[in-house]
Amino acid sequence: MLILRTVAETQSACAQSRGEGRIVGLVPTMGALHEGHLSLVRAARAECDVVVVSIFVNPTQFGPNEDFSKYPRTFDEDCALLEREGVDLVFAPGVDEMYPAGASTFVLVEGVSERLDGASRPGHFRGVTTVVSKLFHIAMPHKAFFGQKDAAQVAVLRKMVRDLNCPVQLVVCPIVRELDGLALSSRNRYLSEKERHQALVLHRVLRKVEEAAASGEKSSAKLIEVARSVFAQEPDVRVDYIAVVHPDTLEDIPDVSSRSLVAVAAFVGTTRLIDNVLL
Ligand code: PAJ
Repeated sequence: MLILRTVAETQSACAQSRGEGRIVGLVPTMGALHEGHLSLVRAARAECDVVVVSIFVNPTQFGPNEDFSKYPRTFDEDCALLEREGVDLVFAPGVDEMYPAGASTFVLVEGVSERLDGASRPGHFRGVTTVVSKLFHIAMPHKAFFGQKDAAQVAVLRKMVRDLNCPVQLVVCPIVRELDGLALSSRNRYLSEKERHQALVLHRVLRKVEEAAASGEKSSAKLIEVARSVFAQEPDVRVDYIAVVHPDTLEDIPDVSSRSLVAVAAFVGTTRLIDNVLL
């Protein structure tokens, strides 16, 4: 497995694979890898000839009071896991390599970037779309793999790919959960034992909403009430948002008669967690 730190080397290695007619798959990550990330790597391994994984904690997608500096960095363990999955190339640039002094170009998908996590974390999706477009230009992948765990990110990136005619196919993989339902996240390692237990409320909320919808409740307002009442069982958990939206536009929808995304975000202690279900 090749580990590259520079844009130039990665660009030329990927261009060479592409030139040889091999299908290149890219899995962008911020490291601190877990089974959720590895599910994307396995999907890429199954569908592509060359698998490139990027590990880069992207400063431009963190707000000034967010966890950029304390975000878990476990590079050696990450590489050991990726090696075992048969990854071909790890691209792990430093911040100065990705954003050389004076860099001032950003990619912004207007509208959808201001909804859900974009509303709670101003500028977050501008950072995501900027770094992901850079990664697309560096790795020039035929396919790029993302998790449904970050449903709003998927909506924003789909729109970016459409609006900018990016020559890449997005592959979205299902949410990987712990046995008790907690969605895997690099941020779960911030949780104390007590918080780890409290965090299960996110999954419980989504299950109850799903059950209510399955038994005929179509009104978004009613489903949000169901969600609120389940969240109330964990008073220490502070709800950030509960949203019933169209999965592509992230706009509120009055009822769930067509394809709908139920998404939640909440603070468990100081850790912000997200989860969602597609109805
Ligand atoms: P990160 O949080 O490291 O996640 C990398 C990819 O793994 C994302 O596509 C995310 O949706 C997916 N993922 C995380 N947890 C998952 C789970 N439990 N099940 C399935 N997939 C999961 O998302 C980012 O990094 C960054 O925003 C990035 C796209 C790399 C841009 O910096």
